[in-house]
Amino acid sequence: MSESTTTASAPSASDVLVEVRGLEVHFPIKSGLLFDRTVGHVRAVDGVDLSIRRGETYGLVGESGCGKSTLGKAILNLEPPTAGSVVFDGVDIASLRGEELRRARKRFQMVFQDPLSSLDPRQTVESLLREGMGAHGLDTDKAATHARLRELMSDVGLPVAGLRKYPHEFSGGQRQRIGIARALSVRPDLIVADEPVSALDVSIQAQVINLLQDLQDKLGLTYLVVAHDLAVVRHISDRIGVMYLGGLVEESGAAELYDVPLHPYSRALMSAVPVPDPEVEDSREQILLSGDLPSPANPPSGCRFHTRCPWRQETRCDTERPELRVVEVPGATAQHRVACHFAEEIAAGAIQPHEVEPALVAEGFGGPVAVPRPPPDAYA
Ligand SMILES: Nc1ncnc2c1ncn2[C@@H]1O[C@H](COP(=O)(O)OP(=O)(O)OP(=O)(O)O)[C@@H](O)[C@H]1O
Ligand code: SF4
Ligand SMILES: [Mg+2]
Repeated sequence: MSESTTTASAPSASDVLVEVRGLEVHFPIKSGLLFDRTVGHVRAVDGVDLSIRRGETYGLVGESGCGKSTLGKAILNLEPPTAGSVVFDGVDIASLRGEELRRARKRFQMVFQDPLSSLDPRQTVESLLREGMGAHGLDTDKAATHARLRELMSDVGLPVAGLRKYPHEFSGGQRQRIGIARALSVRPDLIVADEPVSALDVSIQAQVINLLQDLQDKLGLTYLVVAHDLAVVRHISDRIGVMYLGGLVEESGAAELYDVPLHPYSRALMSAVPVPDPEVEDSREQILLSGDLPSPANPPSGCRFHTRCPWRQETRCDTERPELRVVEVPGATAQHRVACHFAEEIAAGAIQPHEVEPALVAEGFGGPVAVPRPPPDAYA
């Protein structure tokens, strides 16, 4: 976590490494055996604006299917945008072709959730690491390559002898270290880590998270970390974006998001995280999210969250999509943005949540979370 990015001042253009504007990624839904007609679109990413600053860790959270991975891939130019732009270090990556694109690609790399499926099992670690280096012209001098391979293994905390082994000969945590070394092998500026520790035992997760942080400090890396585990995201991130159905609904400094969640969806997510202290656990706000995530092929009108929002109002919520905006709420800084028409009134307790069904669910955050029905005055 970088110190400089936790301050409340607005970033200058030179502080920003990635600028995403109005990004949309829609996947066509095909039907018909003969004519292959397009009958609709999955709006996986549907109007996202965000900036990632140099040297920071931007955490992205949201339910399964809300578009986190698609957004990460679009930022890495692995998924073509339907609309909008991704500007990397001042250059719109959609405008790049051929050699320019190849050189730009070297600057952003991905670390995947499941290292075993992302590493070719028939290649040794040395061959896996050299592959990326070779593709970017970094494997031309034998002595320099060997020195670099040893450095990479040492950077990720693996023995040099591991270079001759195959991925299946390593444990899950070690394989993720190989995945990280592979991403590092081309000396990137940005790493998009998509659920980098979700497939690992809890005891190993902290080691890999700590490794990512150490590498960031040592190499000045910038991270976009996608994770469904809110504790992991809080620990590693400078800033966090909360996604719902293809859009960002809230963005804030990491600690502030947990202290002052403003969007009803973020409040529900936070309230589903158990607190170890039983007294705090009994007294804290708990918000039930009723209903499943609507289909991104047919998202609700207006505010996408209105079908599940306990604070939904008669006006605006169903008809007008809220902009991500800075609000004047005690405890919220100018870096805190929320996409809710009534964020101020909700924070002040001026409008009350509706009764909600005592059903589940917050899928995608470690499985369904049963949340008790709140008492009538829970949000007063
Ligand atoms: N290549 C594709 N073709 C069609 N639909 C896709 C494609 N990739 C993703 N989708 C759809 O886009 C939506 C967003 O998917 P995405 O994988 O980005 O979500 P996610 O937030 O990463 O979910 P998870 O937490 O489960 O990984 C989902 O409805 C998914 O089914
Ligand atoms: S805009 Fe309306 S429906 Fe959307 S989160 Fe705010 S109160 Fe709820
Ligand atoms: Mg995903």
